Amino acid sequence: MATSSIKVLVLHGPNLNMTGFRETDVYGKKSLEELDSDISAAAESMGIGIRILQSNSEGVLIDTIHEHRTWATAIVINPGGLTHYSIALRDALVSVRLPVIEVHLSNVHAREEFRRHSVVAPISIGQVVGFGGYGYIMALTALVNFDKEVV
Ligand code: DQA
Repeated sequence: MATSSIKVLVLHGPNLNMTGFRETDVYGKKSLEELDSDISAAAESMGIGIRILQSNSEGVLIDTIHEHRTWATAIVINPGGLTHYSIALRDALVSVRLPVIEVHLSNVHAREEFRRHSVVAPISIGQVVGFGGYGYIMALTALVNFDKEVV
């Protein structure tokens, strides 16, 4: 049961369902189910309300953001490859006027040049990159402790 007023929509974008199988040297060996279970447990211990969705479809991600406009107080999103080019996803995040934290399992800044650019970063409070699944828990911790009144 949530004990704080913080309610977080956690979104995983395209190909993150393959986590634990694809490029394990980059993204880690844990499956998305395991990461989600860690996120849910952390949220529960922090008293945060949580909803988690993975989709390979940009449209489903956008619809889910719109639908959570009134439920969520913040969004934590790993947009996967959409990070680097989806203006539509960025516009959806802006449209709901909720604070956003961008998470990446890998350190995108230490990889190919095209991964260093994010269209989501400029409309986010901040990015957490390179800490694997723990990055989502870092994002939740930031939402609870962040000293600006963003949530
Ligand atoms: C990723 C990084 C992206 O560049 C990539 O397209 C992904 C995963 C990450 O979590 O490190 O799918 O978002």
